[in-house]
Amino acid sequence: MTAMEKQKSESPIEGLLEEKRLFKPSDEFRAQANVNDPKIYEEAAKDREAYWAKQAERLHWFKKWDKVLEWDPPFAKWFIGGKLNASYNCVDRHFKSHRRQKPAIIWEGEPGEQRVLTYEDLYYEVNKFSNVLKNLGVKKGDRVTIYMPMVPELAIAVLACARIGAPHSVVFGGFSADSLRERINDCQSKIVVTADGGYRRGNFIPLKDNVDEALKNAPSVEKVVVFQRGEDKKKVNMHKDRDYWWDELMEKAETYCEPEPMDSEDMLFLLYTSGTTGKPKGIVHTTGGYMTGVTTTTYMIFDIKEDDIYWCTADIGWITGHSYVVYGPLSNGATVVMYEGGPDYPDKDRFWRIVEKYRVTIFYTAPTAIRSFMRWGIEYPRRCDLSSLRLLGTVGEPINPEAWIWFHKYIGNEKCPIVDTWWQTETGSILISPLPGIVATKPGSATIPIPGIEADVVDNYGNPVEPGQGGYLVIKSPWPSMLRTIYGDEKRYIDTYWSKYKNMYFPGDGAKKDEDGYFWLLGRVDDVINVSGHRIGTMEVESALVDHPSVAESAVIGKSHDIKGQCIVAFVTLKEGVKGTPELENELKLHVGKKIGAIAKPEKIYFTAELPKTRSGKIMRRLLRDIAEGRILGDTTTLADPTVIERIKSQYTDKE
Ligand code: PRX
Repeated sequence: MTAMEKQKSESPIEGLLEEKRLFKPSDEFRAQANVNDPKIYEEAAKDREAYWAKQAERLHWFKKWDKVLEWDPPFAKWFIGGKLNASYNCVDRHFKSHRRQKPAIIWEGEPGEQRVLTYEDLYYEVNKFSNVLKNLGVKKGDRVTIYMPMVPELAIAVLACARIGAPHSVVFGGFSADSLRERINDCQSKIVVTADGGYRRGNFIPLKDNVDEALKNAPSVEKVVVFQRGEDKKKVNMHKDRDYWWDELMEKAETYCEPEPMDSEDMLFLLYTSGTTGKPKGIVHTTGGYMTGVTTTTYMIFDIKEDDIYWCTADIGWITGHSYVVYGPLSNGATVVMYEGGPDYPDKDRFWRIVEKYRVTIFYTAPTAIRSFMRWGIEYPRRCDLSSLRLLGTVGEPINPEAWIWFHKYIGNEKCPIVDTWWQTETGSILISPLPGIVATKPGSATIPIPGIEADVVDNYGNPVEPGQGGYLVIKSPWPSMLRTIYGDEKRYIDTYWSKYKNMYFPGDGAKKDEDGYFWLLGRVDDVINVSGHRIGTMEVESALVDHPSVAESAVIGKSHDIKGQCIVAFVTLKEGVKGTPELENELKLHVGKKIGAIAKPEKIYFTAELPKTRSGKIMRRLLRDIAEGRILGDTTTLADPTVIERIKSQYTDKE
């Protein structure tokens, strides 16, 4: 059996509970861990509110809260009456301490440049950019859209918004002009902060062009700030009275900006994520609860110490980057490594070179990246000295045990604990993960809920299932960093997360619990596909496909993929007279890429004369999944015309 075949047979959906290996924290790690007394679990469970109130003390508050929690399901308020500022917590309090000259951000550009920003540097940059925003007319409560490559200015822009109380909406730089426009219009941003472009795999990816395209139909936007990342300002098309260069505005900005005392429940940011309908959801996070969640989890799960060099490889455009590149580590006064580009540029050892160069001690990445590293081979990590590493983490999708073991052996040198962290854009911070000094790990399991979190696996009716039985993951009581609503759509908030079960949060994930109470996440149970740890809604891709003049109808599904976890497969019926050629398949893939972004491009498009539908006209994606996975077809009795699926099957299974 090759490594890849073996990995496939141990896919997270099948064979999970056969995994019996147990990795206990070493005595050495346990002794030095930030948290190493198992009593913390019991104590937190006994009085969750008191536990979270204690954790909130990790933050600086201008005014302490009057009440810890108000729970009017499904609406929670945490630390009511408290006043704080997230940027003050991430910057000022370190600037005012012994950490002033400590590196806050160590940045490496893909072409190889290096910048180090101390907490002092970060303080001045954030203060100045806060004033830039204010001078452009941004007020407390105004939404600011940020569309940037992974440069320190992205973190600076985020923190500046937090400082003046303007909720940010960061849009991942890989999203298209259309996706950007949709997100700008949904939250009615007045300002867009962007760059001319960024480097990725040796190419300069233009971002400003996408902004110009998006703004053709985004009337709320008044001003655009452009950071120069490329070589030549003259190449950039600046609109008079709308577009301003970052550096020119910064030159004139005052060096101090009073941090806005934010109410604990004031919105800190919104971040769009995919759901089951075509329209992305603006997930709303507020200040006090979110900051408590990310600060506590960073301290406990990543075991952050004063001299750690911490690297989370996520882009700030995703929630992982918000919580564990910016807010969590900086609130803890950590040194954060930030890298702009791809892991295989100029060579497949780039990540390991960065670990060696900066003596990275904590490394947090996605299973999809680990599976790529496995495929590339151990010669790449072996070229580098990885002995500085002391803790590893994964996030975004279930990790197959084979990848876990590889990570443990070849990157962690069999000595680093691995924290497999389960959470979501909506949860704000990690909810299920080992505390590395306490909990023994099992490859492929995110282990147990962290202290203060009450989770379970239940059946369709909300009853807990027996150990080993599949069911739905639920969170049974509120937690500080939970989403508060979906921006502008409270009904969707209630329907999506709180209508399947009464007073229990439904994240949309399948799970099993084993006899030790360990959670094994089994992937999404809704119409959301997880491609390389990124969420894509099937409906979004379907809408993009039917937007093409040749397409009549489409159905999109997720298919398991060796590296990406899942990939996108589309079944498409074409308009009368159009032929399904390989050229058209290619054109449709590019069309989806252009409409949404490269991450949403289907891996494969099948042309079919019809789609399988129920008598009421609902497309039966389950059967299409069976075909794509090469499985025996499930129940076809509810189909309006059962021969349709047989025809698709014979059309494709012979050829594949
Ligand atoms: O299905 C789960 C999966 O990623 C989804 C959340 O996606 P997103 O909001 O984009 O956030 C990703 C980063 C936090 C979840 O519903 N997921 C995330 N982490 C894990 C995971 N599945 C299994 N194991 C994990 N550790």
